[in-house]
Amino acid sequence: MLILGIETSCDETGLALYDSERGLLAHTLYSQIGLHAQYGGVVPELASRDHVRKTLPLLRQIFQQAGLNPTAVEGVAYTRGPGLIGALLVGAAIGRSLAWSWRVPAIGVHHMEGHLLAPMLEPEPPAFPFVALLVSGGHSLLVEVGGIGKYRILGESVDDAAGEAFDKTAKLLGLPYPGGPALAKLAERGDPRRFTFPRPMIDRPGCDFSFSGLKTAAINAWRLLEPTPENRADIARAFEEAVVETLAIKSRRALKATRLKRLVVAGGVGANRRLRDRLRELTAELGGQVFYPRLEFCTDNGAMIAYAGWRRLAAGQGQDTVIDVMPRWPLDSLLAVD
Ligand code: KG4
Ligand code: ZN
Repeated sequence: MLILGIETSCDETGLALYDSERGLLAHTLYSQIGLHAQYGGVVPELASRDHVRKTLPLLRQIFQQAGLNPTAVEGVAYTRGPGLIGALLVGAAIGRSLAWSWRVPAIGVHHMEGHLLAPMLEPEPPAFPFVALLVSGGHSLLVEVGGIGKYRILGESVDDAAGEAFDKTAKLLGLPYPGGPALAKLAERGDPRRFTFPRPMIDRPGCDFSFSGLKTAAINAWRLLEPTPENRADIARAFEEAVVETLAIKSRRALKATRLKRLVVAGGVGANRRLRDRLRELTAELGGQVFYPRLEFCTDNGAMIAYAGWRRLAAGQGQDTVIDVMPRWPLDSLLAVD
């Protein structure tokens, strides 16, 4: 089954063609970073307008890349939520219209389910069940995954998501948007021994996270210092260490509580090198294994949407020809696929 995937939930336009027999045939991504950088964050209206401009040219590009004609498509998957309402509506309207004109089924995909299933695009995908650590700009979740749509939330962020904490801290340190990758890069030069920030909520039972206090601790420390490059790098390093260690501690708890050995890490913060290394260490220590998508599929992309859409379309879960989006959409409310 050949599926077209469309991702437009935030500031990236992602398109992909996934074939259930042959795998990923083509994918492309356009990032709006340049558009939003001057405002220091995503401007929703500008994001929607840019998705309108980019989606169809990118679509032509992937058909060309794959050497395929649109008549080969057998289903369309687009991101239905969660995300920015206007941005989601662009992908939903285009996806539904294409599916209608091509007379194929369409499905609205949950963005975080897309992230969660992204490691399935790799040569050695994880088998169910597993624990998923989903860390993106909008969400931080630990989920027990029994199968597609079989999600039990073990813990989540009570305030800022991990990526959001990276972005906000980076902004306060004077780094350009998007701050997460910039802060991580800066941290490489930082001294890990100079500052130690609190590991939030590790003294409380359970797997919930909180990052806003950590962000404040980093900023308060920064404000007392001369704004030199070394000081900035040392603060960035201590902040990153604290986030990574907190996520590692909570992941360990989730694995212990569920007695599972496999950990899947996905979402933009899953691209963080230090987090990847730390969780590899942790799972090895527990006799388990960690699975990641390749770096480019940690952040938003069309391939994960095409894949998740295929799994649901193949189970007959295509929906009516209605364009609706879900800016808020709990992951544990999805239908199971048997
Ligand atoms: O999953 P994603 O692309 O979009 C959402 O669904 O939110 O995640 C984007 C988030 C941003 O907050 C970004 O700063 C963060 O992921 N991020 C990183 C890194 N790369 C992306 N955070 C830390 N280290 C990185 N290397
Ligand atoms: Zn995302």
